[in-house]
Amino acid sequence: MSVPLLRIEHLEVRYGDLIGVSDVSFEVPEGRVVALLGSNGGGKTTVLNAVAGLIPAHSGTIAFRGEEICGESAFAIVRKGLALSPEGWRLFVQQSVENNLRLGATPLHDKARTASLLERVYEIFPILKERRNQRAGTMSGGERQMLAVGRALMSDPKLLMLDEPSLGLAPAVVESMYETFGRLHREGLTILLAEQSIELALEVSDFATVLQVGKSVLSGTAAALAEDPQVQKAYLGTG
Ligand SMILES: Nc1ncnc2c1ncn2[C@@H]1O[C@H](COP(=O)(O)OP(=O)(O)OP(=O)(O)O)[C@@H](O)[C@H]1O
Ligand SMILES: [Mg+2]
Repeated sequence: MSVPLLRIEHLEVRYGDLIGVSDVSFEVPEGRVVALLGSNGGGKTTVLNAVAGLIPAHSGTIAFRGEEICGESAFAIVRKGLALSPEGWRLFVQQSVENNLRLGATPLHDKARTASLLERVYEIFPILKERRNQRAGTMSGGERQMLAVGRALMSDPKLLMLDEPSLGLAPAVVESMYETFGRLHREGLTILLAEQSIELALEVSDFATVLQVGKSVLSGTAAALAEDPQVQKAYLGTG
């Protein structure tokens, strides 16, 4: 077996005395899309933020290409090739669309690549090119989501982590966003996708893990989980 791009084992994250997640384990194989499913408070954001180095792990392992990355700074983790499009976008709202994108390229070792990456993001999301000089804070929800994903792509990641990219968006916008994820997948990008919507996520994913109150309770292929009544039960808290 080859080493998975990302391997999480028995991850525990605490917020002071409160438990964010207590026992999460799963793998993300290279070139695959893995969905992290679970209802509100299941721990999806906590896991992604811990992988991105935004919050510390209390115990457990987070390994990227077999190398432990727990305890590394968020900047160092982006440099290794992991990028997060976070819940709530966390854009620089007073800055232009293009400046937000350029900031995503800050961790690049080779700054000369910024221009070609910017062109690629503009090709994927033409609306961002049209709005390149607009302040990020005046963009619509769908446009901000595109900007957050575009900014993550600017670091040319090996692993793209997406935290609920469909949240609050109109169905047509969600559809086009997911078409884009499908395209990035076909181009070989590895994606870890946190979603509340089971149906939406399983359609685009190869594998999935279900979180229930801070624990990974089910993992398998997307096709198997789509058929598994335990998935619905886990969501309803009766599993
Ligand atoms: N900053 C924080 N301080 C204390 N507890 C937190 C904090 N952030 C999250 N939690 C708790 O950690 C647990 C997991 O929350 P998390 O935000 O990771 O869930 P989620 O699956 O992303 O939920 P949602 O689908 O609503 O975004 C919840 O019990 C939540 O209350
Ligand atoms: Mg969340």
